[in-house]
Amino acid sequence: MKKIIMVSAASLVLLSGCQQVKDWSNDLTGKKDQTEEKQQDEKKPEQTPADEKGNASAPEETTPSELQLDARFFNDIKEVDGHAIIQNPSNILAMVNKDYGLGEYKPDDLVRPDVPFVFGEEDLEKAHMRKEAAEHLEDMFAGAKKDNLYLTAISGYRSYDYQKMLLEREKEQYGDEKAVMAVAPPGNSEHQSGLAMDISSQSHQFQIDIPFGETEEGKWLAEHAHEYGFILRYPEDKEEITKYQYEPWHFRYVGKEAAKVIYDKDWTLEEYFDHVKEI
Ligand code: DAL
Ligand code: ZN
Repeated sequence: MKKIIMVSAASLVLLSGCQQVKDWSNDLTGKKDQTEEKQQDEKKPEQTPADEKGNASAPEETTPSELQLDARFFNDIKEVDGHAIIQNPSNILAMVNKDYGLGEYKPDDLVRPDVPFVFGEEDLEKAHMRKEAAEHLEDMFAGAKKDNLYLTAISGYRSYDYQKMLLEREKEQYGDEKAVMAVAPPGNSEHQSGLAMDISSQSHQFQIDIPFGETEEGKWLAEHAHEYGFILRYPEDKEEITKYQYEPWHFRYVGKEAAKVIYDKDWTLEEYFDHVKEI
């Protein structure tokens, strides 16, 4: 079925500069032209044989395998009422940020991870995550426990309406300028994807604040989260890119492969999508 994509000229300019968005700017069906693809294949340089000294020369155009990414993992964007909305929101690598939102999306595979929550057994919306993320969260908490560190889950899935309330409350408490650096607008929070969890610890009085990054638990998470497929989503000194303040407590599931690349390269999710090549 043909996708109908409504875009203004201004948003095309805005979006075409961003590599993480599938390049539909010259093909509004969102499908790649197969003839064009074939021609591109034909243009690919052949593998250069090892030279006489035995050094294999890598053509500059060759993208390392860890930076090759299947097309389905890129945001597929449609503009709705002036907002860029992700059309494939269940993509495990969905890049949700101030530019790309989830609309009214609610994941259909939310489960309660078997980890301690700050509010105990209470059945709250925020005690949920998407299944795959929840399973890896359990592994991560178990991994920390092996190192004698006890993590506590604070806030996972949040609906559009809950996020709206949170932002309004934050604005009342701290003013607009501070609030928008700390709390995402409704529709634009990773918590709505069901792939994010805020984490703290009893030893830090369950606080989610900057000093948590200096605790043993905070340091353990920063060093080990990628082994379980999570990334520290809002690192220190990357505010210009993420548009959010440093959040040593907010971890986002992206899967082990992407998490390893992002950790090794010290990238944000935005930087990752600036570098990966669609295959
Ligand atoms: N604190 C993060 C940015 C959120 O509200 O989603
Ligand atoms: Zn968070």
